[in-house]
Amino acid sequence: MSERGGFASRLGIILATAGSAVGLGNVWRFPFMAGQNGGAAFIVIYIGCILLLGIPGMLSEFVIGRHSQANAARAYGHIAGGKRIWKLVGYLGILTSTIILGFYAVVAGWCLQYLLASLMGSLNGDADYVLNYFQTFATNPWKPCLWAVAFIVITHVVIVRGVQHGIERASKVLMPLLFVLLIVIVGASCSLPGAMAGVEFLLRPDFSNVSHSVLLEALGQAFFSLSLGTACLCTYASYFSRDTNLLKSASQIALIDTMIAIMAGLMIFPAAFSVGVQPDSGPSLIFITLPNVFQQAFGSMPTVGYLIGILFYALLVFAALTSTISMHEIGTAFFTEEFHLPRKKAAWVLTSVCSVLAILCSLSMGAVDSIALFGRSLLDCCDFITAQVMLPLGAFLTSLFVGWFVDQRLLRKELLTGVDGYDGTNDESFNHANWHYAWLFRIYQFAVRFIVPLCILLIFLHQFNVI
Ligand code: TRP
Repeated sequence: MSERGGFASRLGIILATAGSAVGLGNVWRFPFMAGQNGGAAFIVIYIGCILLLGIPGMLSEFVIGRHSQANAARAYGHIAGGKRIWKLVGYLGILTSTIILGFYAVVAGWCLQYLLASLMGSLNGDADYVLNYFQTFATNPWKPCLWAVAFIVITHVVIVRGVQHGIERASKVLMPLLFVLLIVIVGASCSLPGAMAGVEFLLRPDFSNVSHSVLLEALGQAFFSLSLGTACLCTYASYFSRDTNLLKSASQIALIDTMIAIMAGLMIFPAAFSVGVQPDSGPSLIFITLPNVFQQAFGSMPTVGYLIGILFYALLVFAALTSTISMHEIGTAFFTEEFHLPRKKAAWVLTSVCSVLAILCSLSMGAVDSIALFGRSLLDCCDFITAQVMLPLGAFLTSLFVGWFVDQRLLRKELLTGVDGYDGTNDESFNHANWHYAWLFRIYQFAVRFIVPLCILLIFLHQFNVI
């Protein structure tokens, strides 16, 4: 399958996969979740979830993808030794990520509009003005639809260029840029008068608010942020080279993802506290609360405020783009390989399906009332059903699959490839491998067999009020 292409370098692997992980989940969702759930207490629990469940989950998908070097559906079937039933988990992942792309593009499209608006200086005004701005925009019948489709088309343009020249190259440009923007804004935000209250709010643990629902929120956030459970990591891993050290890569990606989430908090809270804005205002934070915060905060230096506002929305757009690319690739790889379509055509299939979904989601925000399911807007519905049901289900099944059904020797071989002293041939060599890797493998095995499935099961039961 050499014509599949793949990432050309280790740096490419890390940046592209971290690009998938770092997205609106980090820059938008993480800060308000931390804000609502006890600041540093949430962060501590979140890091626990990443270590205990996130990294093992990533590794499972990596093994499936890298071993099979194929799209998600085929990869699950292949590593199961042809047992077709497991292909269903691959299909589930592809469906989930396609739906996520549909509604994620709507929010990403809002970011594009806000980038443009901040460039033109039209977000200037008091809190009522900004609220009104958002409501008028989001309920407009065509503008947000157009932006959402535009975002999917930009994603499409990257995807058709291929894995190496499209995804890898885009990530190598966007990720460093994102990091620089983040540092600049964190610096500016933390230098404001009264900013330390925001830093303290984020970093002072307040365990008094921690209930078991915080635990579950942290877990859901960790999965979403790492792009787990939707065959995304499995698809990217199918482009890894045979000698990539999976354990090291997963840890580095998780570290980058967590660091950027915490930095996003350090960008938002100090500025918000400095002008006395409540930071726990929830999902509307970046579109309703924040637009004029930078302007107000830098009141004495209007140009700085103006520039920081622009950089902030540019940052959101870049973060969202590297994530939508990864969601698009899952389906594109699937249609290319399973239906023998040229990559370009396969990408168009996905772009069309997601655009229709995005338009429906966008219209459901107020322009057309009848697009609702179970009393929620279609956008909320897609968000709920993917993030709270399909994604954990995908991660649950994958974990059971890898822990109990995949040949454990194969698993060990994949995981220890690239580790000093391990040549992948026999048990002898396993014992000679760098001993702490051998231990890490045992811990991993225990996690995927017991801890991960059990924890996800608990979330499910809790969610449906069984416990
Ligand atoms: N992890 C991304 C974020 O934090 C979102 C994302 C990208 C994603 N690809 C995914 C989520 C696949 C679930 C599945 O914003």
